[in-house]
Amino acid sequence: MSKLWKESYALNIKEIDNQHIELFKILEELLNAMSQGQGNQVVLKIINNLENYARMHFGIEEKYMQKFGYEKFQDHFEAHQYFYKKMAECKQAFQSNNLIVTKDLMDFLNKWIVKHICGTDTLYKELFIQNNVR
Ligand SMILES: [Fe+2]
Ligand SMILES: [Fe+2]
Repeated sequence: MSKLWKESYALNIKEIDNQHIELFKILEELLNAMSQGQGNQVVLKIINNLENYARMHFGIEEKYMQKFGYEKFQDHFEAHQYFYKKMAECKQAFQSNNLIVTKDLMDFLNKWIVKHICGTDTLYKELFIQNNVR
């Protein structure tokens, strides 16, 4: 379990909560690798893991939202797009060896994920539960 995860973040939808937990796990791994000054290949690999996992998770949320005719789909979709943009900036900063900007963007992504899960994601909670997502 990641130290970044708190029980209060749970939506009580196991499938989604497990994916959120995994996101924090990869994020924590990334923060640790950076602070320990791990090699560039190691850090880049974790950045890519985080990006791929986020795409997978957001894709699953979007699939359910569309299937259930979620009225706030567009806003939520755009929030996910924004994350990809900031994630790409983070990767680019790291590849340009700009470690201060990389760290700032990672902290930003960390806060963004918490805010997204505790805000935007909670808005679909009832709809998902009504449609038997468990
Ligand atoms: Fe989510
Ligand atoms: Fe989301």
